[in-house]
Amino acid sequence: MNNSELSALLKDMSLDEKIEQLIQLHGGFFGEVGTITGPAAEFKMTGDQPYRTGSVLGEAGAKRLRELQDKMTAAQPHHIPALFMADVIHGYKTAFPVPIAIGSSFNTELAEKIAEAAAKECSAAGVHVTFSPMVDVSRDARWGRCMESPGEDPYLNSEMAKAEVKGFQGDDVKKPGRVAACAKHFAAYGAPVAGRDYNVTEISEHTLYEDYLKPYRAAVEAGVKLVMTAFNTIDRKPCTTNKRLLRGILRDDMGFDGVVISDYNAVGETVIHGSSYDKRDAAVKALSAGCDIDMMSDCYLSGLRAAVQSGELDESLIDEAVMRVLKLKNDLGLFENPYKDGSEEAEREIIFSKEIQELGRKAAVETAVLLKNNGVLPLSISQKIAVVGELCDSPMIVGSWSIFADRSRTVTLKKALETLCPECDIKFFPSDNADEASEYAKGCDAVIVCVGENEEHTGESMSKADISLSEAHNRLVEAVSGVNKNVVTLVFGGRPLGIARADSLSAAVLEVWLPGTVGCLGIADILFGRENPSGRLSMSLPYCSGQLPITYAMYKTGRPKPENTGFIRYMSNYMDVPNRPLYSFGQGLGYSEIEYSAVRLDKDVIGRGESARASVTLKNLGERDQLEAVQLYIRDEKSSVVRPTRELKGFKKVLVPAGGEVEVGFIITERELEFYGEDMRLCAEPGDFKVFVTRDSLGENCATLRLEGG
Ligand code: NOJ
Repeated sequence: MNNSELSALLKDMSLDEKIEQLIQLHGGFFGEVGTITGPAAEFKMTGDQPYRTGSVLGEAGAKRLRELQDKMTAAQPHHIPALFMADVIHGYKTAFPVPIAIGSSFNTELAEKIAEAAAKECSAAGVHVTFSPMVDVSRDARWGRCMESPGEDPYLNSEMAKAEVKGFQGDDVKKPGRVAACAKHFAAYGAPVAGRDYNVTEISEHTLYEDYLKPYRAAVEAGVKLVMTAFNTIDRKPCTTNKRLLRGILRDDMGFDGVVISDYNAVGETVIHGSSYDKRDAAVKALSAGCDIDMMSDCYLSGLRAAVQSGELDESLIDEAVMRVLKLKNDLGLFENPYKDGSEEAEREIIFSKEIQELGRKAAVETAVLLKNNGVLPLSISQKIAVVGELCDSPMIVGSWSIFADRSRTVTLKKALETLCPECDIKFFPSDNADEASEYAKGCDAVIVCVGENEEHTGESMSKADISLSEAHNRLVEAVSGVNKNVVTLVFGGRPLGIARADSLSAAVLEVWLPGTVGCLGIADILFGRENPSGRLSMSLPYCSGQLPITYAMYKTGRPKPENTGFIRYMSNYMDVPNRPLYSFGQGLGYSEIEYSAVRLDKDVIGRGESARASVTLKNLGERDQLEAVQLYIRDEKSSVVRPTRELKGFKKVLVPAGGEVEVGFIITERELEFYGEDMRLCAEPGDFKVFVTRDSLGENCATLRLEGG
């Protein structure tokens, strides 16, 4: 349809029809047509009204969705097709490593491929829109949803956001295998006070713009089709009724012209927040603020008609929102083909294809982070090995938002090792009983200890006040390390955990996150040296919860304590732990050592509109090819507002062949130097900048670049 056809359609729709387009219900509303029970009855819906609504949440499966679409288009007076939206966060039937792990790959091409594979699988199952990518910057491991985000850094999250939007949507979302993406949760959902999910945020204007808004802006620039509002408040206003946020920042400033959808019952929850008087007030506020679709509250359903009739709400606002929904349906080609790619044949052909499984295995290799290795890794198949801990044979390592993943296909670490190393002398003890585990560990050449959290301990609403490894897991590592000095600790989980004790007792530590359906095959590849790990931490691992929130990009204080000294009174530091985390953002090892040359700048001074190139030569001192995540950080030495000690401004993952050398360069323009100034405008101020090209956020390899000009 062209725009005038869409306008004609809109003009012909009744007010009720239009409001119904703005309502999203979950699958439980769709029983027998005409029999209203359960949730539909609670929403006081009548007749076939659920079938006339504009979109459905959380349903997938080609057969089911084709049938549902037939009923919905038949019920809708203008036969407007419904949109099927679902949470396909890091895979559909095949789960890939969780997003915090994907962030740790520092590989945007990989992130794009994963999104593309997820889109292929779920679009074959009839899904049109995925509620992904989640791009919230998260610096607080107490917040269970940090699992769903690429990490702590605005730049990394922005690059991942762009890659994923591209991977889901391609260059034309109508094309086969593509789904519309939805960036969430707008805004700053990753900064709940005290790490408690759904809690309020308290962030300054500078922090909001400088740290939290950037990844959403990147997603908008990449053409994301939808944006989801967040549950939290910003500056005391719930995001879903926050006009300044949705119309001012998202639409006017960022130029977003797609669909804004609320989070689940977020419109209704503004009544519970106490900032809307009742459902009708909530509906008026949310729609006026710019929220087009009401996901799973009955506010729009019960409130909008009366608000228009009383003159409280201008119908043109409803028209505007409906038009955006119709445009999205049109962009997806649903008026011509309401099922899009959904077919049972496509499901059979695409889901669990060999190509997708191989990607899942490779993804685990690039997302696992080797934090420590005294040489015990890689293991050799001639060694006698024990593998202990319940997590070594747990299928609960897929991720809590992998709601469609087929758990029967989960390859546990035990299964992976048995499949890949049948000739190896490996004993498994899939239990956390420390005393018995140490019996297994005795007399082995090395022992792999699986600790951390399974998927039920991270994710939405799974906040923790204490992120330490459990007592049982600390005891397990202690007991095993008492009888075997070659302890390889594998840390599972969706958040940075407090592993300081286990780390000090281990010869090697590998952060494997929640690796997904077949990820343990990749982990086994790493353990036995068939693959070389190349992940880098996308979130810093603190010593303890008291350091949270934490990031490498801490703001400069007036009383900085020199690194590597003990506690100094009247300086900004802790008495009991260092300021730095146990492992900082960007850290991670491979099996080959990579030597960095000093940073070279092609110019020491640039003027306005000019650029400089910073480069290093990497030399692989090892015997294996190594994928290296080279990181560019910049520190603004003096500025009108206080700036972080350094900020990530670029990264490249490059292959450095064994014994070989590779040159890596980054272009630095004013864009890399700018920040929000005193007047909240983006500016780059003249002066000196330290340019670091390093292996991680701690590296000191740098040169000074001067920006000149007024
Ligand atoms: C609530 C979650 O916050 C959001 O991320 C998700 O997409 C929706 N529910 C829909 O399931």
